[in-house]
Amino acid sequence: MRAMVTMGHGGLEQMVLHTDWPRPEPAPGEVLIKVAACGLNNTDVNTRSGWYSKTVTDATTGDAFEKVGEDDPTWGGNPITFPRIQGADICGEIVAVGAGVDSAHIGQRVITDGWLRDPNDPENMDKTGYYGSERDGGFAEYATTLAVNALPVKSNLSDAELATFSCSYSTAEGMLTRANVTDRDTVLVPGASGGVGGALVQLAKRRGARVIAMASEVKHPDVAKLGPDRILPRAPENLRAALGEEKVTVVADVVGGPYWPNLIDILERGGRYTCSGAIAGPMVEFDLRTFYLRDLTFTGSTVIDPQVMRNIVKYIETDQIKPALAATYPLEDLRDAQAAFIAKQHTGNIVVIP
Ligand SMILES: NC(=O)c1ccc[n+]([C@@H]2O[C@H](COP(=O)([O-])OP(=O)(O)OC[C@H]3O[C@@H](n4cnc5c(N)ncnc54)[C@H](OP(=O)(O)O)[C@@H]3O)[C@@H](O)[C@H]2O)c1
Repeated sequence: MRAMVTMGHGGLEQMVLHTDWPRPEPAPGEVLIKVAACGLNNTDVNTRSGWYSKTVTDATTGDAFEKVGEDDPTWGGNPITFPRIQGADICGEIVAVGAGVDSAHIGQRVITDGWLRDPNDPENMDKTGYYGSERDGGFAEYATTLAVNALPVKSNLSDAELATFSCSYSTAEGMLTRANVTDRDTVLVPGASGGVGGALVQLAKRRGARVIAMASEVKHPDVAKLGPDRILPRAPENLRAALGEEKVTVVADVVGGPYWPNLIDILERGGRYTCSGAIAGPMVEFDLRTFYLRDLTFTGSTVIDPQVMRNIVKYIETDQIKPALAATYPLEDLRDAQAAFIAKQHTGNIVVIP
């Protein structure tokens, strides 16, 4: 089969197209999916570059880093093996099943839940892998996964549109769930033009919260289509003044970086900060006084409950959320697709078609 195979940690050149890669066979408890579309995510970029390693303190660049720790280069803090097919967000059709899986699944249109839980110990977060990291994913014509991770979806959306949801929207819903966001909250969303940020806007609105998005001004017309109540620039010099009378009770952040102290300073007493990423840089200046004197709560969010992704499917099927598809690329142009993804001139998600 055709597959884009990542050969090791490093730059875009590590992704190499193969036209005769062996088609995977579904093991017991697994399904084989014919991939119709597969979304791009920073997880793929960060795993390839080794950004997750504590030896890296820079923002995500998409390029190779000078030094990447050998012991902790992936999201879970462990090494992975290469060659590896990345890509977590598949939309496709089940075309075969492994032993123990009902053949009635064949023919189903599915999207994938990227969190690979140990079937014998599903509650154990330490035994969780990620699709395209700890096992091969969807940047190929075919992929296998655990049957429980292939979720049937009934929708009029295109394959590429359906391939935008899994990682971004489940991450966003996981953050909002951990921060207990309700209709009593005002939620500030930095990076609202991004995959997770755009999902945060829609999913916080779905909960009835007031939502204030932050994004580069050129992207404001596209961000407005996601339905926030207000949109601010990416990094106003005086965020308190830009917010006016708004009382921000939750900051839902995947940006971090040098601007980060401003996001914490504007939180109301008793406010919550929830975080799933640090695209502008992982090292931030943290004044502990702000944290304790204002009774703040911080929640990190990465490994999420399987119910979160089942809810995302329900929201898709009932038109409660919409895709933000920026562009599609053929699989053989995945390097160009990732270069465009990293350049961030777009709003929403980029998808490859095998
Ligand atoms: N924990 C998890 O499970 C999980 C899952 C998915 C993603 N993530 C992480 O979340 C972060 C964001 O992912 P994403 O897919 O939403 O990213 P994305 O689609 O690339 O969007 C990031 C947005 O951040 C904004 N931004 C603000 N300052 C920036 C800066 N200095 N450099 C780059 N972008 C900046 C950009 O918008 P403007 O130009 O409009 O400001 C951009 O649209 C990444 O670190 C990713 O690894 C984590």
